[in-house]
Amino acid sequence: MLNRKIFIKTFGCQMNEYDSNRIYDSVSKLGFVKTTNQSNADCYILNTCHIRDKAKEKVYHEIGRVKKLYRDKKKPILVVAGCVAQAENEEMIKREPYIDIILGPQSYHKVNDLLKNHIVSLKQEETEFDTISKFGYFDKIKNNNDKISAFLTIQEGCDKFCHFCVVPYTRGPEYSRPFNKIILEAEQLIKNGVKEITLLGQNVNAYSYTENSKEYRISHLINHLDQFSELERIRYTTSHPRDMTDDLIECYSSSHKLMPFVHLPIQSGSNKMLELMNRKHTVDHYLKIYERLKKINKEIEFSSDFIIGYPGETQQDFEDTLNLIKKIKFINSFSFIFSPRPGTKASTLDMLDKNLAKERLTLIQEKLFNNQKEKNKSLENSIVDVLVENKIEKQNKLFGRNKYISPVIFNGSESNIGKVVKVKVQNSNQNTLFGVLDKKKKAA
Ligand code: SAM
Ligand code: SF4
Ligand code: F3S
Repeated sequence: MLNRKIFIKTFGCQMNEYDSNRIYDSVSKLGFVKTTNQSNADCYILNTCHIRDKAKEKVYHEIGRVKKLYRDKKKPILVVAGCVAQAENEEMIKREPYIDIILGPQSYHKVNDLLKNHIVSLKQEETEFDTISKFGYFDKIKNNNDKISAFLTIQEGCDKFCHFCVVPYTRGPEYSRPFNKIILEAEQLIKNGVKEITLLGQNVNAYSYTENSKEYRISHLINHLDQFSELERIRYTTSHPRDMTDDLIECYSSSHKLMPFVHLPIQSGSNKMLELMNRKHTVDHYLKIYERLKKINKEIEFSSDFIIGYPGETQQDFEDTLNLIKKIKFINSFSFIFSPRPGTKASTLDMLDKNLAKERLTLIQEKLFNNQKEKNKSLENSIVDVLVENKIEKQNKLFGRNKYISPVIFNGSESNIGKVVKVKVQNSNQNTLFGVLDKKKKAA
């Protein structure tokens, strides 16, 4: 099987990106080589997301595209992985015989066997919840990621069952990886040249692993990573307000490398809506976290997720959300119209009028995007620390991110890749800062 080519198209969240990279690590043992040419692969994997909209239909649409790409060529082994695979399982193969393998997120440890077997046998489906075996398997395989910024999954699954959300059904119950395995993987990444690690989980701050009667939480991981001299930055996502515990908040004063940027989804500014969504936190609780963090370091900035047009949302509830945005100037947020997901509690509720929901989304996005533009504008003419990730060949410029994860594009030499440098911001738009390397100042 030497030098067969594999292409993975990844949708959805960062956990899918991490998983896709680990699948590449695994199949390299079979001699598969990663390709960026999607029309010339022996194996084509769609790593799918089920969080919103017509997720299932999008997958069939993608398969239609693959079929066209390979119309005059040898058919690739087509694998549907990820959350749609978990939710729909073998039904998909019945509807679309072009699919060869269905692989749920908790079965990735079986990918090599499935591929080997496929060469000699039939269609296969693996959608068991088997998180321990998955991580047990990947713990034995080197993580080859050598990007400057890398994801590291520490926790997977969710027990919270927000009424709108499909994740507890596609990723299964909460599972936290052993502390020492995460540290070993972090050491590997750092050896590969990684300078920024983002700890990942569907509820990353619910991380809890007990060994010899000692409980390890995300705060222990952050404080441990903080000691690695070659690591520049630590981030984590996605966190839940209910798990924003004192020890994690304390990290914002104890850690030198934890970035002052908190992505903490609130979903709505109305307590009534939060209760209807089964969020298990109130607006007040959220504001207290905000105030505590700002007290530790006033430079800390927030971003959030919002669901607009959830069943039962009145004009007053919506205005409560707008008011919250006035109190907290989120600098970068995601907002979505509620999308009913099969099997969830909210999927049976009466939907709001579509046009009204769209109007509200437009209004909220206007405000959120304005915050983002203002924040970027406020950085013009100042010097920001940038971790340089790569060169944009076409523009002959460097690409990096500031501490608030905003992209920064600037002039500079390739020797800066992997370093934190000072950049003088000259210009900005909603998403990006533009500037020049500040040669006078030494990197922080
Ligand atoms: N675990 C995170 C939390 O509790 O905040 C969120 C994880 S979810 C993958 C990412 C975001 O998708 C959520 O914060 C929510 O705003 C959005 N989302 C989830 N289900 C949705 C739905 N049915 N309709 C619209 N947006 C949804
Ligand atoms: Fe979904 Fe809620 Fe779990 Fe987040 S906490 S993954 S929104 S069920
Ligand atoms: Fe999507 Fe699954 Fe992530 S539903 S958001 S890929 S956990």
